[in-house]
Amino acid sequence: GAAAALGAGAGGCPVDHSRLDPTGRPVSADAAAFDPFGEAYLRDPAGALRWARDQEPVFYSPELGYWVVTRYEDVKAVFRDNITFSPSIALEKITPFSDEANAVLKAHGYAMDRTLVNEDEPAHMLRRRALQEPFTPEKLAHHEPIVRRLVREHVDRFVDAGRADLVAEMLYEVPLTVALHFLGVPEEDMATLRRYSVAHTVNTWGRPSPEEQVAVAESVGRFWQYSGEVLEKMRQDPSMPGWMPYGIRLQPEMPDVITDSYLHSMMMAGIVAAHETTALATTNALRLLLENRAQWEEICADQGLIPAAVEECLRFSGPIVAWRRIATADTEIGGVPIPEGAKLLIVQASANHDERHFDDPDELDIRRDNAGRHLSFGYGSHQCLGKHLARMEMQIILEEFTTRLPHMRLVPDQEFTYLPNTSFRGPEHLWVEWDPERNPERADPAILDRRRPVHLRGPAGRAAARTVAVRRIDREADGIVRITLADPRGGTLPKWSPGSHVDLEFGGFSRQYSLCGDPDDRSCYQIAVRKEADGRGGSRYLHERLAVGDVLRMRGPRNHFRLDPDARRYVFIAGGIGITPIIAMADHARRTGRDYEIHYCGRSSGAMACLDRLVRDHGDRLTVYRSAEGVRLDIGALLAEPAEGTLIYACGPRRLLDALGEATRHWPEDALRIEHFTSDVGALDPAKEHAFDVHLAESGGTVRVPADQTVLAALRAAGVEVPSDCEEGLCGTCEVPVVDGEVDHRDLVLTKAERARGDRMMTCCSRACGKALTLRI
Ligand code: HEM
Ligand code: FES
Repeated sequence: GAAAALGAGAGGCPVDHSRLDPTGRPVSADAAAFDPFGEAYLRDPAGALRWARDQEPVFYSPELGYWVVTRYEDVKAVFRDNITFSPSIALEKITPFSDEANAVLKAHGYAMDRTLVNEDEPAHMLRRRALQEPFTPEKLAHHEPIVRRLVREHVDRFVDAGRADLVAEMLYEVPLTVALHFLGVPEEDMATLRRYSVAHTVNTWGRPSPEEQVAVAESVGRFWQYSGEVLEKMRQDPSMPGWMPYGIRLQPEMPDVITDSYLHSMMMAGIVAAHETTALATTNALRLLLENRAQWEEICADQGLIPAAVEECLRFSGPIVAWRRIATADTEIGGVPIPEGAKLLIVQASANHDERHFDDPDELDIRRDNAGRHLSFGYGSHQCLGKHLARMEMQIILEEFTTRLPHMRLVPDQEFTYLPNTSFRGPEHLWVEWDPERNPERADPAILDRRRPVHLRGPAGRAAARTVAVRRIDREADGIVRITLADPRGGTLPKWSPGSHVDLEFGGFSRQYSLCGDPDDRSCYQIAVRKEADGRGGSRYLHERLAVGDVLRMRGPRNHFRLDPDARRYVFIAGGIGITPIIAMADHARRTGRDYEIHYCGRSSGAMACLDRLVRDHGDRLTVYRSAEGVRLDIGALLAEPAEGTLIYACGPRRLLDALGEATRHWPEDALRIEHFTSDVGALDPAKEHAFDVHLAESGGTVRVPADQTVLAALRAAGVEVPSDCEEGLCGTCEVPVVDGEVDHRDLVLTKAERARGDRMMTCCSRACGKALTLRI
């Protein structure tokens, strides 16, 4: 391009100008070598960008002319801010076409423009909210029988064959038919459509050669025209079922929001959005589970694991590996300056394998606690509207296969091939084989009548619980027991990272405990529990009633207290039983040769957990403060001087943490890290909030919203289901109508005028100004 021409023209200049990014900074050799259409990226996008996550998480790719964003936090931050990072280029051609190909498109009147996914605010949110109802779980319920019927019929066709390419036999067709049903398209022209929609993918995200471009343009042009014709049919009879007729019916009410251009563009883009994504997602999931046979067998034995398996497969191998945004102002991402106009390739596949966010990311674990935090559906205001439909299809397909063909295997040594493009990924064929004699339905046809309900609700992050058995209970110190937990069948437990906790359910209690054992020992977990005489009973139960051999339910591990590997030095501060997460961190720091010190405060040696082990392993890096001996930590003196690159990790009683907060006011903003047992998104400061009542106009009754809880959480706790997604005021999912009371709006969804009207609110973040609100739910 222009930069290369400049370099050549400068003749003899020692700097290779083609290797500067648009801000004039040199491009590293790895960045220059990155090939988003190459084999390595197609086969394993996350692996191909591991170097970047570690060394250069945001880099400029001269090959693409895009900045590539690879770490979880950065990808999410870009998704979260759709004003600074506009999605307007999401459907733009990543490879510009030749004049000849453009002429072909023009001849077909091709005018793909803004849909939803590439629309800016404020138009986008108005349109999204107007059109989102058909995507709610209630409204999708009537698609469930259609999906089940289609899946059943397709498997019927090959169940006795012993061998099949699942893509050709069903994984392509079923999502296509479901997509057409959802959109309201009559079921004709499937074969043509199939060609068309591949052309759209190559057109938008591929790198066709100039000759291929003309053929692609021809198909895309026809796809565009076909979409227009279907739309015309719908306009003739807008009472037809489906999402597109729903939009057509709304058009007269809001012509500026639902425009003709929107309808035509969405008619075409919607087919790809609903079809290709889900087809590839299901293919990836089946392949992955069959490659991880033990987990496949687990879900065959317990189909209740299917929803969690679907989320983990979407994390591990999502169908959309990268998405696009454009910077609307000079800004920065992860500390890298990004100029206005910069195009960004935000690589979800890389984010989903970022070990800064997912422990052991390259291992499939269907019980992974935070699998649902994957970014495969995007995030925030544009997050995929169709995700419940996609999940429904994937769950039903997995249920059918685990019921009818649990014994199928991947045909060995098959080559998996991919369509070269930056964004959509899934093998073009998936060959499996099985012995039809062993089909379970031959022995017991009744298995075909069993159905599990699909599971679309609930917080995405809620993973399947597993059971653990109590292997040992040891006295750790005065009033403290150490409990060792293991898999009841002697299997391995998931890896965990220092700072992780687990949720345990026992005797009607549900409590969270930090893991304090050795993260490399996967045969057991250890927790230490202090008996809280005036607590709510959980610790008393563990001290007085728990016995070796008891079986508990456990979720996790999950980590909201992660050790930042990039710090130069760590200061660990623990008060009392707060040593439990700290000890694993300190062990890790020692093992990896990091600079650190530990300050451990307690009453007396006899009452302090793990003291011998700390003295033994950490020697003079450890300072112990025993209040019974009158020795106390002087926090002010310890933290008097802010130190560049030093992070303070602290866990202990509230007053210790408050004092640390005070003492670090002059430190860099995030230097003090404290333990959160829940994710701190949407955390409320009870000192600044007030409690209020929510009256339910339709279901009756009143729910009290405490100062430290959201309306959404309070409603859920009271058994009132309100759907939610982002839970931070970005996406509009949790909206409810307000009948009475003044709302303290805190979302980014409602317009100024809507706020002023005060007749609706986002329950995940907004609150009452006064003592009560009345909601129409
Ligand atoms: C948007 C992924 C299935 C309809 C998106 C986005 C992604 C995505 C990454 C952009 C999100 C963002 O910018 O934050 C997926 C995946 C699917 C899937 C991985 C399957 C596993 C579906 C289905 C439908 C659908 C089945 C329709 C029935 C949409 C729509 C948007 C969207 C309408 C635009 C939302 C907006 O901009 O407000 N999807 N999708 N998707 N998807 Fe999906
Ligand atoms: Fe996203 Fe409330 S706005 S859940």
